Amino acid sequence: MTVSTADFEFVRRLAQSVAGFLLEEGKEYLVETRLGPIAKAEGCSSVAELIGRLRWQNPPALVERVVEALTTNETLFFRDARPFEHLKRDIFPSLFSRNPGQPVRVWSAACSTGQEPYSIAMLLVEHLPLHASLVSIFATDLSHEVLERARAGRFYESEMQRGLSSEQRRRFFEPVGTESRLVPRIREMVEFRQLNLSTPLQNVPLFDVVFLRNVLIYFDLPGKRSVLNRIKNVMKPGAFLLLGSSETLLGIDDDFTALRDSGTTSYRLGSAASNPPPQPAPMPVPKAATSTKPPQLGNPAGPRKPKSLPPQVARLKDLQWPEWKRLDDPAKPPKKP
Ligand SMILES: C[S@@+](CC[C@H](N)C(=O)[O-])C[C@H]1O[C@@H](n2cnc3c(N)ncnc32)[C@H](O)[C@@H]1O
Repeated sequence: MTVSTADFEFVRRLAQSVAGFLLEEGKEYLVETRLGPIAKAEGCSSVAELIGRLRWQNPPALVERVVEALTTNETLFFRDARPFEHLKRDIFPSLFSRNPGQPVRVWSAACSTGQEPYSIAMLLVEHLPLHASLVSIFATDLSHEVLERARAGRFYESEMQRGLSSEQRRRFFEPVGTESRLVPRIREMVEFRQLNLSTPLQNVPLFDVVFLRNVLIYFDLPGKRSVLNRIKNVMKPGAFLLLGSSETLLGIDDDFTALRDSGTTSYRLGSAASNPPPQPAPMPVPKAATSTKPPQLGNPAGPRKPKSLPPQVARLKDLQWPEWKRLDDPAKPPKKP
């Protein structure tokens, strides 16, 4: 049975008011299929009954589950390739040479199941190993469910086939049952947290690079503008913003300068005059990272060395983000402040 027009409208408005995204007209079937399992788990005889409960009782935990279930979480490793090429060839080198030895913060602002932030981590270890320890990668999403998967760093073969070379699969993953798990070195480079881009950002640090890819596409114009206004407030002057390949800031926000490099467009906060083009070379080598040894990764063939957190994770305690904590390993005691 398909949901009624009135119920569909109710769910549409709910998703937009809670999370900012718009369900397209005619997606009644999506509401039916996504909310069916929740209705069953809640003991409702139908999706209509579940929606009735939402209408009249509005329990916050149920609203959250329903809205999260309606998100689109499609993602893949190194999605569209070119933004990652741009990051490697232009953005990181420019940031490392502008402020040698200084920490660089990257935010994957709608990270889904983690392929995007983990791609950034792999890129650093593969191509910029001497600077990798300077970079902190933060990853957030609205959905608790996708974040749980992202933190686990476990992926099915079909997900690994999307965007990763066989060399990357061999180097960065270890088999775990029917899945593969990212090696600790890569998992520990990313810090995940739940965050709704439609609500005010509180205690969020300033970023050098923001990946806001394939999420604004689901917002209407006022919604896009308000997300961008929030994000601007946590970008350093001259910071870089990357959108999805079908997204643009044209006609939406004038506070950014569009840059075309490595076959893709990125945006820098500020006018063209205040943003000289990225200076990729030469890159200073940070003092703390002069070793020429390849970075230590998980080695399925031998005993694993005791885990030590890389400096970028240790630095998290300095951030003004008090509730930020590692949730991916329940056995691990919380870090002392
Ligand atoms: C299509 S995925 C994009 C994933 C990744 N950025 C990429 O480009 O492959 C969109 C993600 O945006 C998240 N999302 C939707 N509305 C959001 C909101 N208001 N705040 C934070 N994340 C949101 C969804 O949960 C989903 O995981």
